[in-house]
Amino acid sequence: MVWQDGKQSQLFSHWLRDHCQMPVSRNENNGQRLFSIIDIRKDLYIEEVTQDSEGNVCILFQPENHLSVFSQDWLRKNCYDLNNHFDDRSEKNKKLWQKNTFNDGVPKISYNYFHQNIEGKLQVLCSIRDMGFCIIKDAPTKEGQVLAVIKELGFTRETNYGKLFEVRTEVNPNNLAYTNMGLGSHTDNPYRDPVPTVQLLHCLESSTEGGDSVLVDGFNAAKILRQESSDNFLTLTKNWINFRFKDEETDLRSRVPMIEVNDNNEVIKVRYNNRSIDTINLPAVKIRSFYSAYRHWGEVIERDQLKITFQLLPGEIILFDNTRVMHARTAFSKKGKRHLQGAYADLDGLYSLLNILQSKQ
Ligand SMILES: [Fe+2]
Repeated sequence: MVWQDGKQSQLFSHWLRDHCQMPVSRNENNGQRLFSIIDIRKDLYIEEVTQDSEGNVCILFQPENHLSVFSQDWLRKNCYDLNNHFDDRSEKNKKLWQKNTFNDGVPKISYNYFHQNIEGKLQVLCSIRDMGFCIIKDAPTKEGQVLAVIKELGFTRETNYGKLFEVRTEVNPNNLAYTNMGLGSHTDNPYRDPVPTVQLLHCLESSTEGGDSVLVDGFNAAKILRQESSDNFLTLTKNWINFRFKDEETDLRSRVPMIEVNDNNEVIKVRYNNRSIDTINLPAVKIRSFYSAYRHWGEVIERDQLKITFQLLPGEIILFDNTRVMHARTAFSKKGKRHLQGAYADLDGLYSLLNILQSKQ
């Protein structure tokens, strides 16, 4: 094919037949394919390609004598060698950031703007997709508000912690998150499969000293690690480790890499949580190189220039991509009260709404 913009493509006969858009091949209402790969003949070939009066490309396939008509527009938009592959999780499609990206302050979107306007929802969703996080300010400081926010964006992911969880100090907590200790940068629940991909934290009350929130762009940290040592980067993508959470009623285990890449070697997920790494079990020849890569990764994540630090104020809700953004909090005083409610949701629901809202604009 020679396109109108002068570019050229060679399109494989089986790909063209497989992507036939005719009513015999696709359901007219939902566009879903009506046949499978094994229905396409192995000895398929193209006998003839012509153009109709409207400029559509008509392809006659033999030996089945099947005619497919493609619009040039569809072919150009879908042709596999001129379009980037789709991957809305890839680092390639994100805006990576670090501390000085937000020298003018961390952006916040007002709750009313989000709640009452499609543009407000789009801003929140685009911010989560592109930056990996968003802060909503001036939300009602009402218990359960975090679930109402999720309802506007997607679906709650219920876990063993419930539909929502309380983050405040507890006696004999099952998780160090429920103490006044500082917590190092981490992603939540790496022991869960699949991991919750969105986390929300809503500040209801905060009168303690300390307890600041810290965020790190894990994709940026992975990029820096790869620049500084491609060997260490590779080690963390190729050596999978165990994570575990255990209390009286729950025993969750996973085996996953700390840095996950797609088939184009682009980062799509990161995991880091020193509290829940289980026994590291790797072949003896790999253990030293794993530990030096793991240490390097930990050092990059804790670099000050990568961290944004702020106080989550009452009425503020932070939403973040738990496959990308690491969060931490500084220790806080025992005097005063600090009460957050958290919940999980998933990126697929959020991206779905974003796609639908954008297609209506
Ligand atoms: Fe956490």
